Amino acid sequence: EKGTYPHYMLKEIDEQPLVMRKIIQMYQNEQGELTIAPEIISAMNESDRVYIIAAGTSYHAGLVGKQFIEGIAKLPVEVHIASEFVYNMPLLTKKPLFIFISQSGETADSRAVLVKVKEMGYRTLTVTNVPGSTLSREADYTLLLHAGPEIAVASSKAYTAQLAVLAILADVTAKSQNIEVNFDLMHELGIIANAMEVLCDSKELFKHISREFLSVTRNAFFIGRGVDYYVSLEGALKLKEISYIQAEGFAGGELKHGTIALIEEGTPVIALATQGSVNLSIRGNVKEVVARGANPCIISMKGLNMDEDSFVIPEVHELLTPLISVIPMQLIAYYAALHRDCDVDKPRNLAKSVTVE
Ligand code: F6R
Repeated sequence: EKGTYPHYMLKEIDEQPLVMRKIIQMYQNEQGELTIAPEIISAMNESDRVYIIAAGTSYHAGLVGKQFIEGIAKLPVEVHIASEFVYNMPLLTKKPLFIFISQSGETADSRAVLVKVKEMGYRTLTVTNVPGSTLSREADYTLLLHAGPEIAVASSKAYTAQLAVLAILADVTAKSQNIEVNFDLMHELGIIANAMEVLCDSKELFKHISREFLSVTRNAFFIGRGVDYYVSLEGALKLKEISYIQAEGFAGGELKHGTIALIEEGTPVIALATQGSVNLSIRGNVKEVVARGANPCIISMKGLNMDEDSFVIPEVHELLTPLISVIPMQLIAYYAALHRDCDVDKPRNLAKSVTVE
């Protein structure tokens, strides 16, 4: 089923442009506009705060989703790790809507929260790749990712699909409230699909970058600001789980408050620079680590790029950069695992769906 691909993960990374186009198609009405079931949009509009509950990569998608929903639909969002939320619940607002993000729809930690908040009488929406999954059946509403089966343990195409669906949810919610959205999301998602193709065609470069920065190191840091920080968390998780390199994602400005002590001669620091408003400050953070001997790998977006950058991603709408900046993270992790002879699709100690709490 993986055809000519050596690993499912590489196949699934490569499928991302197709999945984007599929999502655009599946979430379109006859008039060619983005659409979401009216009862889901009503649930959004009737709530005073969205609580996103998820684990792992899906939690990282939730962090970006918060930016989409707050930025586009102007609805406040909190994002919580499922296993924490279940016993450490924050004070809830009067009309919460719970959104569960889960590729498998089977994650026990997320289900435990679902069961609890349903008992409390709150409304629930599951965003999942698996129709008929437990979280889908048990929630009031479901939004499907349409990403096709994800076999590799490390999640890739589900993450970008989650981002696209959350962006569409934000967009349709905003329009239902006559909140002005100053860009055409459907058009931008098409641009994203094309940009994804460019990145997937750059594998040799990422293989090279991965060899240069990660072939011998024991650890690595990923830094970014704003949404780039959230993608850094995902980049670090991908690298850890398949290459076993100890990796940490950090907010660019936070490293100097302690963790910079770990930077040694040659420590790889992968920095994302896709956000105009913080371009200079993230580059300042890179200078701080370089002064302590770090080996910097800067991945920037066209228009913000500088001579020292290792890779420049195509220009896309600034809010949507995580949909493509994550692809270098996925590919760099993939090749790091290959260089180290790791079992890419089935990393040690991990299972595809975690059905214990
Ligand atoms: C990372 C990964 C895990 C899952 C997490 C949640 O690559 O796959 O971190 O994201 O276990 O799984 P789902 O999304 O199925 O609830």
